[in-house]
Parts: sequence; C-alpha cells; structure tokens
Amino acid sequence: MSGEGAGWTPIAAEAERATKVLHPESLKLPRPTRRRIMTVANQKGGVGKTTSTVNLAAALALHGLKTLVIDLDPQGNASTALAVEHRSGTPSVYEVLIGEISLADAAAVSNQSENLYCVPATIDLAGAEIELVSMVARESRLKEALNSEALDQLGVDYVFIDCPPSLGLLTVNALVAAKEVLIPIQCEYYALEGLGQLLRNIELVKAHLNPALDVSTILLTMYDGRTKLADQVTSEVRGHFGDTCLSTVIPRSVKVSEAPGYGQTVLSYDPGSRGAMSYLDAAREIATRGAEEGTA
Ligand SMILES: Nc1ncnc2c1ncn2[C@@H]1O[C@H](COP(=O)(O)OP(=O)(O)OP(=O)(O)O)[C@@H](O)[C@H]1O
Ligand SMILES: [Mg+2]
Repeated sequence: MSGEGAGWTPIAAEAERATKVLHPESLKLPRPTRRRIMTVANQKGGVGKTTSTVNLAAALALHGLKTLVIDLDPQGNASTALAVEHRSGTPSVYEVLIGEISLADAAAVSNQSENLYCVPATIDLAGAEIELVSMVARESRLKEALNSEALDQLGVDYVFIDCPPSLGLLTVNALVAAKEVLIPIQCEYYALEGLGQLLRNIELVKAHLNPALDVSTILLTMYDGRTKLADQVTSEVRGHFGDTCLSTVIPRSVKVSEAPGYGQTVLSYDPGSRGAMSYLDAAREIATRGAEEGTA
C-alpha cells in the first residue's frame, strides 16, 4: 500500500502508518556517531516542549536508540507522560542537582520502551531554583551530573532535557549541560514573541558558560492546516531559521493531547494517527542529521 491504487482507503493508510510506527525493523534510525544532548527550551508556556520531548524520545527509543529524558520542570509533565513515578520523595532530578544521588539512581525505565529512561521531577524541584542560587557552580550542576561516566553507565545515545516555561536557573542548567537546543514553536500568532529573548539568553550562555551550544533544531508544533495563520507562521519561521527548522511539522491533533492522560506517548496510544507519524518523521529527521553531523 502506498496511498494509491484500487485498494486504498483512509483505514488502509492508517494501518500503514501504524505498521511503520510499531515495527521498527522496517525503519531503522541511524545511531549518532556521538552521544547527543538536546535541551528543549522555550520560555513561552504551552508550546509543546513536553509533548515534543516525550514523543521524540519515544520514537527514537522504539527504533532501538537508547534515550534518556530529564524532566527539569517541577510540573513533572514529562514524568507523567512517560508513566514514571514522581510523587514527592521519589529519587528525582532534584536530588541529582543537589548532589545527593547519582543520575543512575534517579533514572527509571519507562513502560513505553525498554530503551527509554526518565529522570523524573517531583514537586521538590520547585524550590531548587532558589536553593541553587547559593550553591557552588550553580549553573553547571546538571552538566556535572550528566558527565560521560554517568551517561556511559546508562549507555544512552540521546538525552532530552525538558525545560520549564522560564529562563531561570533550571533552564540555564539545561543550556549549560547540552550541546544542542531544540526550540518548539507553536504555529500561532504570538509564536515569535519572546523568541528574541530566548535567543539572546542562549547567546549569553554560549558566550560565558558553554561555547559549544548551538540551536540545532526548530520544530513547528500544533499546526492547523485549516487556518491561513498557521501557514504564515510556518513560512516566517522557515524564512528566519532556514534549515534549522525541521521539514516535518506536528499537526494539532486530539490524540496527541489525550495520550499523556493514559500515561502513554501518542506512538503507543494511537500509532496510526497523524500525530504519531509526524513525531516519528521528526525523530527520523533529527537522527539522520545527527548521523551526518556526527563527524564534525
Ligand atoms: N500537536 C498537538 N496537538 C494537540 N494538542 C497538543 C499538541 N501538542 C501539545 N498539545 C497540548 O498542548 C498543551 C501544551 O503542550 P505541552 O505541555 O507539551 O507544552 P509545554 O511547552 O511543555 O508547556 P509548559 O510550558 O507548561 O511546560 C498540552 O495540553 C498538550 O497536550
Ligand atoms: Mg512542559
């Protein structure tokens, strides 16, 4: 089935998509030549940071790449979506940041894939922004925790850090710990507002704390094909960011928003949906770029 011919129906197309999502052997994703650490940041709330983090991570994990999600948002949304325990008292990213436990002690395997780990965030993280202020090397505590030995121990190919909607010390820690930034941009009118501030902050971190940092990926989310506005935002973002912007755009889809309520990613909740397929396509683009750029 390829979307044409006499036997083609919408159901057949959905079945074809589900097969691609659920049968990874039909679609291998390349392993990066070097481990990739990506911070998913945008201080604007509700643009799809967490949704993109968990679904991209799940897509890579389902296709054989060991992936770690660090939930760096006290809201704990990524932990919820990956069905990882995050009640207060659970070993979490908070204890890792204050140096009480190691990364491996806090990492839990998600039920979504044996290749998918998550370091959860509990409500304890809410105080960290203030507690960190008086700590030694307050901007690089996450970087220290994500040292090569700790990541080798888990054997991960990809690390995604899900940031809170602010530019505070937690986000700065994420920007210092990563080499790449992935910015999700929602296809709506105010999408570009505040982006300048984010980019200036990234430049500051780059200048003073992490020279290797690079905005490697822009992902357009919640695209609604019925509106002219979505196309205007899409072309404006592409005009500004060029190839940094993935060609895959994530559509607005009820399935995507329903999945976390069931402790699932959209890839397992409804593998035949357009949302699942688009996150798989975006993950493939990211993986392919990583394999090409890995030698640089
Ligand atoms: N493609 C999509 N289609 C429909 N709903 C979506 C889509 N992506 C995200 N959503 C919904 O939009 C809301 C915000 O998404 P999400 O939590 O991923 O954003 P966020 O940037 O992480 O938010 P915050 O800034 O609060 O951390 C959620 O309710 C989510 O389910
Ligand atoms: Mg979030």
